[in-house]
Amino acid sequence: MEKNFKRYTITAALPYANGGVHIGHLAGVYVPADIYARFLRLQGKDVLFVCGSDEHGVPITLKAKQLGCSPQDVVDKYHNLIKDSFEQFGISFDIYSRTTSKTHTETASKFFRDLYDKGLFIERETEQYFDTEANTFLADRYITGTCPKCGNPSAYGDQCEKCGSTLSPEELINPRSAISGSPLIKKKTKHWYLPLDHYEGWLRQWILDGHKEWKTNVYGQCKSWLDGGLKPRAVSRDLDWGIPVPVKGAEGKVLYVWFDAPIGYISNTRELYPDDWEKWWKDKDTELIHFIGKDNIVFHCIVFPSMLKAHGDYILPENVPANEFLNLEGNKISTSRNWAVWLDEYLVDFPQKQDVLRYVLCANAPETKDNDFTWKDFQTRNNSELVAIYGNFVNRALVLTRKYFDGKVPSADNLTDTDRNILLQIGSLRSSIENSLYAFRFREALKTAMDMARLGNKYLADSEPWKLAKSDMNRVATILNTALQICANLTIIFDPFIPFSSEKLRKMLDIRKMEWNDLGRTDIMKAGHVLGKTALLFEKIEDDQIEAQIMKLQKAKKDNEAKAAEQALKTSGKNPPKPLKNGCVYGDFEKMDIRTATVKEAVRVPKTDKLLKLTIDTGVDIRTIVSGIAEFYTPEEMTGRQICILANLEPRIIRGISSKGMILMAKDENGRMRFITPQDKVDNGASVC
Ligand code: MF3
Ligand code: ZN
Repeated sequence: MEKNFKRYTITAALPYANGGVHIGHLAGVYVPADIYARFLRLQGKDVLFVCGSDEHGVPITLKAKQLGCSPQDVVDKYHNLIKDSFEQFGISFDIYSRTTSKTHTETASKFFRDLYDKGLFIERETEQYFDTEANTFLADRYITGTCPKCGNPSAYGDQCEKCGSTLSPEELINPRSAISGSPLIKKKTKHWYLPLDHYEGWLRQWILDGHKEWKTNVYGQCKSWLDGGLKPRAVSRDLDWGIPVPVKGAEGKVLYVWFDAPIGYISNTRELYPDDWEKWWKDKDTELIHFIGKDNIVFHCIVFPSMLKAHGDYILPENVPANEFLNLEGNKISTSRNWAVWLDEYLVDFPQKQDVLRYVLCANAPETKDNDFTWKDFQTRNNSELVAIYGNFVNRALVLTRKYFDGKVPSADNLTDTDRNILLQIGSLRSSIENSLYAFRFREALKTAMDMARLGNKYLADSEPWKLAKSDMNRVATILNTALQICANLTIIFDPFIPFSSEKLRKMLDIRKMEWNDLGRTDIMKAGHVLGKTALLFEKIEDDQIEAQIMKLQKAKKDNEAKAAEQALKTSGKNPPKPLKNGCVYGDFEKMDIRTATVKEAVRVPKTDKLLKLTIDTGVDIRTIVSGIAEFYTPEEMTGRQICILANLEPRIIRGISSKGMILMAKDENGRMRFITPQDKVDNGASVC
C-alpha cells in the first residue's frame, strides 16, 4: 500500500570500522535499504538515507593492538575502505559520516546529558572483571575459559561457540583475559544504567500491540525479550576509546558504543543539514525506518527507541525490517576465518559487475530465514536470468530495430490484441511491485521486475518479427515499437535494484532517467527517436571464473585449518613442528651413511640418569654407541630392537666410553624421544636412502 508520509528517514546499520564490507553486509542491510531509498526517491518523495562508520567500542581497540597502531589509525583505514566499497556498489547514502566526527561527539554527549539532567539514569557501583596486566576492565566477550558444558577450552564469557550455550563469565572454568591471557580480579566501578524495565509496559504496547505488521522474525525476537523481562542496561564503560561520559567524576569512562552508535544516525543528519535536521527526526509526518541485520534487533527495537522515548522529542521507527544471515557455501561468514567475499576483492575479479552481485544478493536475500550464497547460484542467476532473459530481450529489440529501421523507433500504427494485452500486463506489474516494496519484500519485488523482462522476451519469441520482415513491415514496426516501450519500462522497474544497468540501458535507448510514475506508460519511446549505441547489457560468466572463486575459498579454508591447528597446539602447550631447513644438496645427504642395525645388548652407564651403553650389530661390525635415552627406554625394552643409525659419525668419547655413531630418533607428541624403526623387517646394514 502506498504510504503518505511527508518524508522518509532511512537508516542503515553503521558498520564497525574494524574490517571491510562483505556480501553478508550487503545482502542483509545495504542492498535492501538502498532499494527502498531509490524506490521512494523515484517516486519524488523526500528521502534521507543515512549511514556512517561505527568507530568506537572494544573491537576497535583490540584491532589496534593486533596491528600495533592507534585506534584512530584503525578507524581511518577502514572508514575509507568501507566508504569506497559502498560508493562503488551504488549504495546511495545522502551522507556517510563517522562516529568520531565532532558533530557526533557533541550530539551524543548532549543526548546523554539531556537524559542525565532529567534524572533518567540509575548510578550503580558493581564489581567487574579486571585484567591487571592490560590494566582494563573486560567485557564478557573478552573473558575466555573452559566451557562448563562441553569442555571447550576457548569458550567466551558470553557464549561457547562450540556447543552454543549462553554463558556468563562466572560459569567459565579457569577464566582468563582474552587480551593478555592473565587471570582476572574483580574490581569496583561505577556506571550509568538506562532502566529498560521502566519502559517495558510502554514497549509492549508500542510493539506487541501496535506493530503486529513487523516481520515475524523481528516481532518474535522483541516478544521474547519483552516476555523475558527487561533489566537496566549500563550505558557507560571503563575504556580509553570513545566519547567521554560528560559528567563530573566520570574520568576514564566513555559512553557504551551501543549508546553512542545509533545516535550517529541523528548526528550524521545534523552534519548534512545543520539548520534543518530536526524535521527528519522530530516531525510526526516523517517515516523512520531502520535497516539492520538480525543481531541488531534488540538495540533498534528496544534500546534505541527507549532512549528516544526517554528523551521525548523524537519520532520512533515505523518499521525495522531486519534480515537474517547470509551464509557462504554452506558455512557462516566469518571475518576472522576469512570466510567471506569482500566487496573490494569482488570488484577486482568481476570489474563493472556491481549489479550482478546486487541482483543475486537481492534475489537470494535472507529475508525470512538464513540463506546460502554459492558461486554456482551466482553464475546461474547471471547466465540464465540477467543474460538469458533481460539481456537477451533488450538485445533482440535493439538489434532488430537497428537492422530494419536503421536504429529509429518505428511507429505502432495497428496494435493487435496481443500487443495491447502485453502492454496491459506490463502495466499491471506496477501495483504488484509497489505492494512488495512497501512491505519490504524485496525478493518478491525483484521477481516481479524480472517478470516484466520475461514477458518481453516471450512476446518477441512468440511474435517472431524476424520472420515477418519480408511480408509485413508494418507488423514488424508495431512489434518493435511495443518491445521498445517495454525496454523503457524495464529501465524504471529495475532502477532501484540494479541502477548501473538501468543507466546503461537508458544510454542505449538514449532516454533520460524516468520517474516511477512513468512506469506502465506505453508512449515513452516516440516514433522517429534515434536509439543510442547498442552494447551487451549483461555478459555470460564462464565456468573458469567461478572455479577460481571456489579455489580462493578452498585456499582460505586450508589457511584457516592450518591456523586453527597451530592455535590448538599452542593452547595444548605442545610445540608446533620446527620450520623446515633448506639448502641441502644431494651431496650433503650422500655423505651420511645411515644404516639399519639391531641392539644386541643395553646397559645403564653408571652414575648417569640418561645414558645407555648399547651394543649394536650393524651387519658390518659390532660396535658401541652411547645414547641419551635412559629417560625414555629401559635396557630391557632396548634389547633386540631394530633401529637406524648414522654409522659414519666421528667417534666421540662419552664418560670414558668411545661411542661410534648416532641413533636416529624423533620426539613424539608428549616430547618423548622415540626410535625410528623400519616398518618392515630389513637386514642389518642396509643403507637408508
Ligand atoms: N556496528 C554495529 C554492527 O555492525 C551496528 C551499529 S548500528 C547503530 O553490528 F545503530 F548502532 F548504529
Ligand atoms: Zn561449550
